[in-house]
Amino acid sequence: MKTMIGVIGGSGVYEIDGLEDAVWTKVETPWGDPSDEILTGRLEGVPMAFLPRHGRGHVHSPTTVPYRANIDALKRLGVTDLVSVSACGSFREEMAPGDFVIVDQFIDRSFARAKSFFGSGCVAHVSLAHPTCGRLSALCAEAARATGVTVHEGGTYLCMEGPQFSTLAESLLYKSWGCHVIGMTNMPEAKLAREAEICYASVAMVTDYDSWHPHHGEVDITAIIATLGANADHARGLVAGLPARLGAERDLCPHGCDRALDHALMTAPAK
Ligand code: ADE
Repeated sequence: MKTMIGVIGGSGVYEIDGLEDAVWTKVETPWGDPSDEILTGRLEGVPMAFLPRHGRGHVHSPTTVPYRANIDALKRLGVTDLVSVSACGSFREEMAPGDFVIVDQFIDRSFARAKSFFGSGCVAHVSLAHPTCGRLSALCAEAARATGVTVHEGGTYLCMEGPQFSTLAESLLYKSWGCHVIGMTNMPEAKLAREAEICYASVAMVTDYDSWHPHHGEVDITAIIATLGANADHARGLVAGLPARLGAERDLCPHGCDRALDHALMTAPAK
């Protein structure tokens, strides 16, 4: 099967360098318009699709990002391996601003977003015990390390609704739960990617210590943007390292991400 790499870029990641035959493509979906047109092209011969999560000009808040349209549009284009790049706050001293965390678990505290392609007329329950693809995540970690950035493999991402940041009490609560990082966008993205049978990896770029840290001020957007700017080279380098690691052809996912619906559908087929 042919590989197609998808990249959803978060705050600070709005394009892909060196994409050959690059063209912005409008994709229509039954779930409405995606966040923006999708930039398609080839990197080292491997097809790639890039979608700015918040849209060019950053017009969608974490709540208004059209998550279902985004994943559906990438699926329609043929994306097999989807890398989410996003900013996050850290609950761990050792996960410092500037570091990358390859997230492998989520706690979903978002509450104002449509979270499934299923439910009305067709019911399915996919497994989310391991919500990211281990194979794709390991390749992302390798590609990130090659850029020289500090990479932490594994971590639990608390997805909050936003757009306001957490209160101090919330920040301390999430830290006490054992969460590693916090952000506003990886859910329901990861859930929908699983329902769409797309391998999904999350690269979270630490920009701040949220609000719990006694020696760092509370999180603010100016500091986040400054850290993201300093990190953009690493994010771009990671993406540039993906085609060589993933290759133009792929086998079945060893973790079964690409077969997630095989035993998930409850609704009887139409007669
Ligand atoms: N994105 C970047 N830093 C964040 C934080 N502290 N909380 C939620 N989302 C974030």
